[in-house]
Amino acid sequence: MQKLIIEGERKLGGSIKVHGAKNSALPILAATFLSGKHSVLHNCPRLSDVFAACRILSFLGCRCSREDDTVIIDSSQPTCAEVPDGLMREMRSSIVFLGAILGRLGKCRLSFPGGCELGPRPIDMHLSSLRLMGAQIRESHGVLDCDCSKGLVGTVINLSFPSVGATENIMLAAVLAKGETVIRNAAREPEISDLADYLNACGAKITGQGTGTIRIHGVKALNGAEYTVMPDRIVAATYMGAAAITGSELTLTGVRPSDFDSTTALFEQMGCSVYCYSDKLYISAKKPLKAVKTIRTMPYPGFPTDVQAIAMAVLTQAHGTSVIVENIFESRYKHVDELCRMGADIKAEGRVAIIEGVKRLSGAAVKATDLRGGAALVLAGLAAEGETVISDIKHIDRGYENIESALNSVGARISRVS
Ligand code: UD1
Repeated sequence: MQKLIIEGERKLGGSIKVHGAKNSALPILAATFLSGKHSVLHNCPRLSDVFAACRILSFLGCRCSREDDTVIIDSSQPTCAEVPDGLMREMRSSIVFLGAILGRLGKCRLSFPGGCELGPRPIDMHLSSLRLMGAQIRESHGVLDCDCSKGLVGTVINLSFPSVGATENIMLAAVLAKGETVIRNAAREPEISDLADYLNACGAKITGQGTGTIRIHGVKALNGAEYTVMPDRIVAATYMGAAAITGSELTLTGVRPSDFDSTTALFEQMGCSVYCYSDKLYISAKKPLKAVKTIRTMPYPGFPTDVQAIAMAVLTQAHGTSVIVENIFESRYKHVDELCRMGADIKAEGRVAIIEGVKRLSGAAVKATDLRGGAALVLAGLAAEGETVISDIKHIDRGYENIESALNSVGARISRVS
């Protein structure tokens, strides 16, 4: 098992290139299965979750190859409509393959994704939506058996919550369905627009992506496409957090700043200066940071739940009391205990966390509890006095391409040991 060892209290400076978005690459990889042709995806990050998605595609009979950050997928000869349990468990978001396999082959068998580090992860909206489109879905012994031998049919789907995964699964299932599918109260995350843009590049007819109403006019067949995955806005937020917590200046390149206005606003409230120009973002932080009254995580364009842990780590170093209300996931404060081991003063109860800024964090042995919680510990380690040792870093590797190399290139001292 690998660990990260961080020598804290070092100032950072320089430039980091932000890699492609995991949460965009995963549904787009599933979408390449729908196309039935060759697709070439650029800016596809080298992350364990992305490798797991490629393993699922290979199991389904696709040919996948990678050269640097480009992945080439040939989905012309699918050999099965099933994802085995082991592969489903490798990556929680593998459920997004359901819409793609069902849309392409008219049947699909996969195991239930189950709960995860963030608490229960129900898929009721995914399943009820696909049923509305004519899919017959049997759930037994943890396996989902789905069938729509007569083909899926477009319909109007009103989501009770703008679920990202459900919106993606419906879009994937609807692209080759008969007639028009309308998703109301659809998720508006930039990753949804990226998926729609890739599918449209393949010949799909999707409009309204990025708004609450998405219309998908079913087409008979798709082509492959050459497409560049959008930059990762959560990784960008993490490196902004690295600058803020160390009182440093950093430039991020390869970003799309308009994707994370609510994150930028937060760092500005803490007293950081942020300047954006085209695909670059410059952040300059001076300590002490200011506390922030209340942060509420919300669906996009609200403050992202994926930046909650990162914001919390930074706010441990702010002057005064900050409050976070987590509205998206039930159990997303597992990093709190680990931050407290490092000297943070945080009380979390239910959906609310209260952070009293402390003068100094101190290095400790801590454990990454989930992907973004793990990234929060890396940030805390950068600011802490002495050495921080983070274990269970497999969680961090799910979403960050070599986080230690990126941060070491701007002056951090982080080593990975086995
Ligand atoms: C995606 C992101 C994840 C992010 C989340 C919210 C990917 C791979 N993951 O996850 O990083 O934190 O969006 O922005 O893109 N829910 C139900 N029933 C359902 C579906 C969802 O109750 O059928 C609930 C979930 O339990 C959760 C909330 O809706 O409380 C939001 O979930 P959702 O938007 O679906 O998140 P994911 O797509 O799983």
